[in-house]
Amino acid sequence: MRRGSVIQLVAIGLVAGAVGAAVALLIPWLPTAAGKEAVRIHFVYWFTTAIAITVFSVVAAVLVYSIWKFRAPPDDFSDGPPIHGHTSLEIVWTVIPAVLVTAISIVSAVVLAENGKAGPDPLLIKVKAQQFAWNFTYPNGKSFGYLTLEKGRSAKLDITSVDVIHSFWVPQLSQKQDAVPGQHNTIVVTPIRTGTYPVVCTELCGLGHSIMRSHVDILSPTDFAAWVKKGGSTTGPPGLAVFQQFGCGGCHTFKPAAATGAVGPDLDNLKTYAANAHRGTLEQFVHESIVAPGAYIAPGYQDLMPHTFAQQIPKNQLAQLVQYLVQGAK
Ligand code: CUA
Repeated sequence: MRRGSVIQLVAIGLVAGAVGAAVALLIPWLPTAAGKEAVRIHFVYWFTTAIAITVFSVVAAVLVYSIWKFRAPPDDFSDGPPIHGHTSLEIVWTVIPAVLVTAISIVSAVVLAENGKAGPDPLLIKVKAQQFAWNFTYPNGKSFGYLTLEKGRSAKLDITSVDVIHSFWVPQLSQKQDAVPGQHNTIVVTPIRTGTYPVVCTELCGLGHSIMRSHVDILSPTDFAAWVKKGGSTTGPPGLAVFQQFGCGGCHTFKPAAATGAVGPDLDNLKTYAANAHRGTLEQFVHESIVAPGAYIAPGYQDLMPHTFAQQIPKNQLAQLVQYLVQGAK
């Protein structure tokens, strides 16, 4: 091959590589990693991407060069020369991909093994999914509709479902894990950044799939200790604890609870809803809306609220919750 042709090939390859690198680097494809496991997963992603861009550059260079250099002149309808295989070329294009794929497998296997390690003292949290809400139970038995983690401390999530298959995902923590009825799947998360991030259901699980969201608060060790000391809950009326435990704020706005969910009716306007519904007193209306949410659907909303609260919320706690909502309603 002449020196000029090599230079042309390399030049096309460099341009293709620059275009590939620009697409990879200039577009923010990945969220900022908030966990150690996510950092490792992002490393695998970039490792694979670098290989892909290199392969793309070589293929693009050969392709563009060949199309341009070996194109048929006008009026040339003759056949090209018959070509039999090229043994050394075939060995090269078999060995190189084999090496690259093996390298990706090894890096992935190491990351997968590392990401499964929870360390000596993980925080054990039971995660329960149901149509269409998340519930997180801590070792002390307290449970919440949102997740709270401590920065720097591994947490082992034991994930299951009470009805259909859901999937637990926090984009900033990178990992997804299915929530399957009758099965307990685990993932380890080791937060490295404080902040609030979304918890998303990433398995189509029914009409309310898209609203099956919660959030994770990652707190500094000091803030986490304070959170635990407070009983893992804001001090307030007992109804507030029930409101938080069953994740009502994930879908409803309610100022007394600092809840800002926008999926279901705004509970600050309960009195207006009750007046329009004509279903007994405000108290009766609130009670019925929790235990039989399908009985009356406020105009503009859908029948998405879990129908299982009648079995899930103990009677005394249900009474506390109803009182709390009635008193907080304007
Ligand atoms: Cu639960 Cu989608």
